Amino acid sequence: MTTRTLKDLLDEGVEGRHILVRSDFNVPLNDDGEITDPGRIDASLPTIQALIDGGAKVILSAHLGRPKGEANPKFSLAPVAEALSERLGQYVALAGDVTGEDAHERANGLNDGDVMLIENVRFDARETSKDEAERGAFADELAALAADNGAFVSDGFGVVHRAQASVYDVAKRLPAYAGYLVEQELDKLSSVKDNPTSPYVVVLGGSKVSDKLGVIEALAEKADKVIIGGGMCYTFLTAQGHNTQKSLLQEEMIDTCKDLLAKYGDKIVLPVDLLAAAEFDNDAETKIVDLDGIPEGWLSTDIGPETAKKYAEIIAESKTVFWNGPMGVFEKPNFAEGTRAVAQAMIDATANNGSFTVVGGGDSAASVRVLGLDEDGFSHISTGGGASLELLEGKDLPGVAVLNS
Ligand code: 3PG
Repeated sequence: MTTRTLKDLLDEGVEGRHILVRSDFNVPLNDDGEITDPGRIDASLPTIQALIDGGAKVILSAHLGRPKGEANPKFSLAPVAEALSERLGQYVALAGDVTGEDAHERANGLNDGDVMLIENVRFDARETSKDEAERGAFADELAALAADNGAFVSDGFGVVHRAQASVYDVAKRLPAYAGYLVEQELDKLSSVKDNPTSPYVVVLGGSKVSDKLGVIEALAEKADKVIIGGGMCYTFLTAQGHNTQKSLLQEEMIDTCKDLLAKYGDKIVLPVDLLAAAEFDNDAETKIVDLDGIPEGWLSTDIGPETAKKYAEIIAESKTVFWNGPMGVFEKPNFAEGTRAVAQAMIDATANNGSFTVVGGGDSAASVRVLGLDEDGFSHISTGGGASLELLEGKDLPGVAVLNS
């Protein structure tokens, strides 16, 4: 059975109906609780706006962070409600609870075209429970918010790899449809997974090799080159016998990196120089060094300029690029040049070589915006970090599979 989409739901008609939407509003906040990258909120707007325009009573659900099953003001969706109100140009009320009295009263009081947000679904421990019955009980309560002719729209692409109550179980309890964002993400990412045009270059960064192991193994067979940077590259460099001093290291992964290098050494591309810093501080003393040149007690915080040039040259020749994970500590401006160079090379390859370039969510997507790069210069910027990796690895995404059942 094929997935029903938001267009099908709109064709059926949503006027006056309660439509429960699962979005991914898991946005980064600073210490003052302000949103530092609203990308996921912006990407959710087309679905919400279409439902408003259709006259639906829209109930939004989402998680923020990992509050461990209890209400915690630090993880409240209040900043999201405010950002949504601004962007939609209409008041988006935030319920004081998840599926409690306030959520129900507000849902019952919605007029056609109104939008409300329930509190962080992870304030309820049943959301992420491994026990199907517990999740089911919570999903029943979520579905009840849209009872009587309601429907569920799955639009939180960043969370479709989680078999959680508000993503997975609720879709079994209401007529369920894929929202515009989920549909678009599946379309773009599936074309990289199933039909990458060669030369196909995969760029991987981020802090942990263990997070990327599955994707390296799955993509190394298909890709022509797997470029590695970011915190994870130091475990590879250590596996090659370099002394990376105080740089990030996953000791338990050194042998795995040795195996990967033995198996895919002709495809894996590692740095040739590094930016070393005396401390993990933007204003620390820095030095460009070769692979064995990190001064004792220092750490590497970015790839070096020769590496950035080499990576950009490989990307320039590509016809398909998938990138997940920054090349350095881009949040600190003095350590952002490697990430900027790779992202800019992708933009250039899109424009000059017709390359299909995809940014795989999470920190890499945030870095594009934080560094002020042209978002439209890429073929696609995914909102899902883990979800896009799992899709490319060929894993089943429970939140997508359930829409087909
Ligand atoms: C993400 O940030 O990748 C998604 O929102 C999923 O969040 P999670 O890893 O806490 O499940």
